[in-house]
This record gives sequence, structure tokens and C-alpha cells, in this order.
Amino acid sequence: MNDVFLNGEFIKADQAKVSVFDRGFLLGDGVYEVIPVYAGHCFRLEGHLKRLQHSLDGVRMRNPLSDSQWQTMIEQLVERNGAGDQSVYLQVTRGVAPRDHVFPENVEPTAFAMSNPLHAVPADYKSKGIAAITVPDIRWQNCHIKAITLLPNSLLKQQAQDAGAQEALLIRDGYMTEGSASNAYAIIDGKIYTAPKDEKVLPGITRELVLELAASANIPVKEQAVSEQQLRDADEIWVSSSTKEVLPVTMLDGVAVSSGNPGAIWKQLDSLYQQYKQQGD
Ligand code: PDD
Repeated sequence: MNDVFLNGEFIKADQAKVSVFDRGFLLGDGVYEVIPVYAGHCFRLEGHLKRLQHSLDGVRMRNPLSDSQWQTMIEQLVERNGAGDQSVYLQVTRGVAPRDHVFPENVEPTAFAMSNPLHAVPADYKSKGIAAITVPDIRWQNCHIKAITLLPNSLLKQQAQDAGAQEALLIRDGYMTEGSASNAYAIIDGKIYTAPKDEKVLPGITRELVLELAASANIPVKEQAVSEQQLRDADEIWVSSSTKEVLPVTMLDGVAVSSGNPGAIWKQLDSLYQQYKQQGD
């Protein structure tokens, strides 16, 4: 049984209990982070803690821990759960209070963290690529906040799964924003296009690294959303996230993307990503 962290204590997962009056449970009033851990080392932790603060600020919620307290707690949690490759999940909710839309006063936020083994991405996702479908982006207007209210994302990802695909690419006002649980890219004439960091997309930590690695390899990047038509005509399509890294999309709405195989620029980027991971950061 894994150890989890809840409100200042490490306890066994089956002992961790949260009140039914927790605003995370009743109102979805909370934010979260997912941090990959390789060989016991948290990957890009600083970026994740910065984004956690950004999400908390975005919903006017107090951060219950300082960055160094988060770091110490996460390192202990990883150690307690056997180090190696893990996926750390953190969640902060506004706390426990009688149900009311208005924020409660003087309530302690609920802080929770768990860590689970990080499963390697299936080999054929990389050798063959994954399938995606396009769907309308039905989410709210503040997608830069990593909120626990994931019902739209969950519905869209399930829709992809029901269609035999692994990801849903979201279209808002005719342009691709991101994936249901990933950032998304279209490669057109040797340039990487990805939606700019605004309220329509989550500022992905993996996205940040993809753009850094592209710059280091002199691959041009345009932080510009592509239209649905440009997406269909793209030479390559990729998605990225902390737990799945960077994956090539080789089928879109049942039609092959270019040759239907992972593209040359993805291969270059993935090898840079793997090298970077080996070095740690
Ligand atoms: N999701 N966009 C959305 C909507 C996401 O849910 C995620 C990640 C990303 C990629 O962000 P990052 O590179 O920082 O993981 C983009 C996580 C993994 C999840 O919800 O489990």
C-alpha cells in the first residue's frame, strides 16, 4: 500500500480520508499538478511549482506550502514509495466548509499528494504513432488554470477512446487549441506550430521543454494556432504531456497524417528529449 500525503502527514493510502464537505468534492474547487519522476528525480519541479502557484492565483486560493516545503514533501513521498520512475499527483482544494458558492473565510486549504509508478508509454505509440480525433473544445475560458474540474476533458478523451483513438484534439473557433490532456503541435514546411500561451491552453511544462529543445536544434517554432484545415494538411502532428512525453499522431479522424508514419522532425525531437531526460535537470 502506497503512502500518500494529506494535510501535513504521510499516511497509508487506505487511511487517507477527506470530508464530504470538502469543496473539491462538492464544487470541484481545486487545482492540481502532475510531475514525472525519473530514477527518483523530479523532472522540472520548479516549473510545476511555479504553475501550481499560477493556478492557485488564478482561482484566488492560498498556497498551503512554500516551494521548499513542497519540494521536501515530494522528495520524501517519492522516497517512501520506492523511488525509481513515478508520477506525482498534487491537489489543493479550498478546504472543508458548509456548501456555498461564495468562498468560506478562515478555512485551511486541503493539500493532498500521491505518487504512483510511471508506466512507460507503449512502444507502438512511438514506432507507429497514435490516432486522434478532432472535437469541439467545450471547456471553459480559463484553460491556463490546471483545475480539477476535468469533466469536459474526460468526456472528450472518452469520445476519442470510443472512436478507437488515443487523444482528442480540440477545435475552438476553427483553430486547434490543444489535446484533452496534452499540448498539440502541427509541423508545416519544417516549422513547429503550437498555440500561444494564453487562456485557451494549459502552459505545459513539456511544451516549454519541446520549444527549448527545438531552439537548441535550430528548428523554427511559431507560437501560433493552426486552423482545422492546416491541421489536416500538416506534415506531422504531435502531442505532449508530462506522463506521455512527445508522441506522433499518425491518424487524424481516420485519415493518415502525411505518410501515416512518425515524422523525421518528431524523431529528431524525441531523441533530443530522451538525451535531456538521461542528463536529468
Ligand atoms: N495533463 N494540456 C492539458 C489540458 C493537460 O491536461 C496536460 C497534462 C497538458 C500538458 O501539460 P504538461 O506537459 O505540463 O504535463 C496540456 C496531465 C498530465 C494530467 O492531467 O494528467
